[in-house]
Amino acid sequence: GAPTAGFVNASDTDPSLEANRTWGRKILRRSATSELGIETIDEAWVDDPGRLEEVVAGVAAAGVAWGREDGATRAELLDLVGQGLAAHRAELIEVMASETGKTIAEGDPEVSEAIDFAFYYAEQARALDRVEGAVAVPPRLTVVAPPWNFPVSIPVGGVLAALAVGSGVILKPAPQAHRSAAVIAEILWKSGVPKSLLALVDLDEGSLGRDLIAHPAVDRVILTGSYDTAALFRSWRPDLPLHAETSGKNAIVVTPSADLDLAVADIVQSAFGHAGQKCSAASLVILVGSVAESARFRRQLVDAVSSLRVGYPDVPTTRMGPLIDPPTGKLERGLRTLADGESWLLKPAALDDTDVLWSPGIRDGVTPGSEFHLTEYFGPVLGIMHASSLSEAIEWQNAVDYGLTAGLHALDVDEIATWSDAVQAGNLYVNRTTTGAIVQRQPFGGWKRSTVGTGAKAGGPNQLVGLTTWRRNNHEP
Ligand code: SER
Repeated sequence: GAPTAGFVNASDTDPSLEANRTWGRKILRRSATSELGIETIDEAWVDDPGRLEEVVAGVAAAGVAWGREDGATRAELLDLVGQGLAAHRAELIEVMASETGKTIAEGDPEVSEAIDFAFYYAEQARALDRVEGAVAVPPRLTVVAPPWNFPVSIPVGGVLAALAVGSGVILKPAPQAHRSAAVIAEILWKSGVPKSLLALVDLDEGSLGRDLIAHPAVDRVILTGSYDTAALFRSWRPDLPLHAETSGKNAIVVTPSADLDLAVADIVQSAFGHAGQKCSAASLVILVGSVAESARFRRQLVDAVSSLRVGYPDVPTTRMGPLIDPPTGKLERGLRTLADGESWLLKPAALDDTDVLWSPGIRDGVTPGSEFHLTEYFGPVLGIMHASSLSEAIEWQNAVDYGLTAGLHALDVDEIATWSDAVQAGNLYVNRTTTGAIVQRQPFGGWKRSTVGTGAKAGGPNQLVGLTTWRRNNHEP
């Protein structure tokens, strides 16, 4: 879309300045203690099932009143939230580091993205005012169910999109990111979001979560999580108005025309940023033709990956942090076992007895149709496939059920055009990483099984309108 008037992306903190590095070290030292730089109000949490009805009714009623305000009024509140988030950058980085092991290099841009959501959706709320009937029937009550892996930007984006269209919000965080959600709620309340309009509900995934999601007063659910979770929510309430960004299995194609030095740097960041625990992560690299034979490319990739320092984020030299939980199921298989024809270029290993610190792995010789080709892993392991042509590479890239992000490294303009026309994914990235979408510049969301319900993209011009309407898509569970 055309740039939104008046919106400017927030800047990340510049680590080349000594003062910023000192600031960062202080945050990370504090993250290793349990003390937070911000007070969280315990009574704000609703964790008593007996109170669920009352909370749902209260937020829905507040949402009805909020929905009568005009877009300019809603935008004013979002602008205040943007300022509040910017003023608490340090506390947000700190809680992400302590709770989910996120390094400062990953957490700092995440705070920028959260700030961007506030100012961008504020501009969009103002724009909606100018389109008569755009928000004919605002949702009264939206449940936001974010994942733990972007514990700040994804919950903030969902909550603010809902507030921007005039809805009340119940935020139901992932259990692993529950303190991050408390810090977010605290900042939003302090910035002027009425407590009646935003409630924090700490329910487990069992029957209480189900009571909330299936509650008839819930007009919208914004979910970011797995395709299976979306299907589970749907099974609880078949007509659930769902806006879900779900799983991904993403590949970067590298052709002989690529700048291979740039490709290596982007592959390393895409595959191993936050230890690969991103729906947008590159889990496969598909090498085309002579690139597959390039010993130099292989050596550079292995050298770069094996030099990533693995550790906890309170150590400033850490480049790759821990896994959220010890690996089980498919991730454990992905880290430990090879299929026929595969070999380790770099064998991943557990570095201590916690089983969450893993060194990164690269497996070569992944074959089309194999488990590694088709499965989402969410961990620090990258697979390599060898294709004879760009069209074969595209065929393999499209063979997966999901279609979230896709990357191409090529300098040949015809290759770029061919690939862009044929590849089936929501976010296409040429000669850059597949992670780290930037609000307004790269609205984020997928197709195929990477989205369920209304597939508008976060941080893009249709997200707010998408929330006021709802439809099923062709890939529904
Ligand atoms: N928006 C994130 C990214 O682009 C994923 O949720 O990496």
